[in-house]
Amino acid sequence: MTTLTKTEGEKAPTGPDSFLSVRDLRVRFSTEDGIVKAVDGLSFDVERGKTLGIVGESGSGKSVTNLTVLGLHNPKTTTVEGEILLEGQDLVTTPEKEMEKLRGNKVAMIFQDPLTALSPYYTVGRQIAEPFMKHTGASKKEARDRAVEMLTKVGIPQPRTRVDDYPHQFSGGMRQRAMIAMALVCDPDLLIADEPTTALDVTVQAQILDLLKDLQQEFGSAIIFITHDLGVISDMADDLLVMYSGRAVERGSVREVLREPRHPYTWGLLSSMPRLGGSTSQPLTPIPGSPPSLLNPPSGCPFHPRCTFTDKVSGDRCSTERPTLGDGRAAACHLTAEQKQTIFIDKIQPRLR
Ligand SMILES: Nc1ncnc2c1ncn2[C@@H]1O[C@H](COP(=O)(O)OP(=O)(O)OP(=O)(O)O)[C@@H](O)[C@H]1O
Ligand SMILES: [Mg+2]
Repeated sequence: MTTLTKTEGEKAPTGPDSFLSVRDLRVRFSTEDGIVKAVDGLSFDVERGKTLGIVGESGSGKSVTNLTVLGLHNPKTTTVEGEILLEGQDLVTTPEKEMEKLRGNKVAMIFQDPLTALSPYYTVGRQIAEPFMKHTGASKKEARDRAVEMLTKVGIPQPRTRVDDYPHQFSGGMRQRAMIAMALVCDPDLLIADEPTTALDVTVQAQILDLLKDLQQEFGSAIIFITHDLGVISDMADDLLVMYSGRAVERGSVREVLREPRHPYTWGLLSSMPRLGGSTSQPLTPIPGSPPSLLNPPSGCPFHPRCTFTDKVSGDRCSTERPTLGDGRAAACHLTAEQKQTIFIDKIQPRLR
């Protein structure tokens, strides 16, 4: 578990050395109702060989962010601004033809539902072999051998036979493994896993998470890991990004953010989610109110209409001034550092036990 090697107070990665560096990303969709601001000024970094966890309520823009990194958005209805620098190459301005060469090769994605990624009409083996042939120029025979090798790696029994099965002949857990095999067949430098194990039972989930960790060790891939499960996040991620309303509201190492969260939204999120090893006597507290409209987001801090601490900030700053997220370990909130610490210790921490 890589998280254990991190020390308290360590800064989240920033700057040009990052493998992936997203800067002031804005993604907007034109809809019949108006412009949906799904991602609104988001910046984050992922280091090579490290895992960035992303958490946030449904609709906070996690999937849109990552689909945009892969260039999987409809250019007719989507406006993308800002920078997505992959080893310095800006994916926002990279032509689609070149993105096709990157996808499945240098950058790959594991989706929540394997049936969105696997076609029912082709054998599992063919679907693993094809991106390998396309990106490496391998022969059919070599690619088939590679598919068998990948199925072996992800723990599919009798891979030489099962390689010729169709996805429906696989169980749900096996399909998830097959999709992981497909995502990893070209040893991607960046793997995006969007709730990769949510649909699976706990035992298979644990096996797949172990598998991802092993593969990361072997290939040194960077991983972006999206999940609602804090236990999984603390096990898998090095750094953590908390998203709200298409923005980053808090960032730091996983340890720092989970042990001493600094943003009222993160407090709400942690109080509303079951904790690994937490006592069951503390009831979960849902965040009051509902996520903001992305058509007409609140002014100032997008969380202010749901925040119970706005009276601690002088004037009407929370509703008029957008708080910025500093570098490294940071939270985008107008409360002072001292206030955040006091409120956390007095009011929030007791709830999290
Ligand atoms: N093509 C689109 N057109 C219009 N709105 C969209 C489109 N795709 C996504 N959205 C909106 O963008 C917002 C962010 O969606 P996204 O899928 O990124 O949320 P998420 O954080 O991944 O949520 P979840 O945890 O439920 O997966 C949502 O309000 C969604 O309805
Ligand atoms: Mg999503």
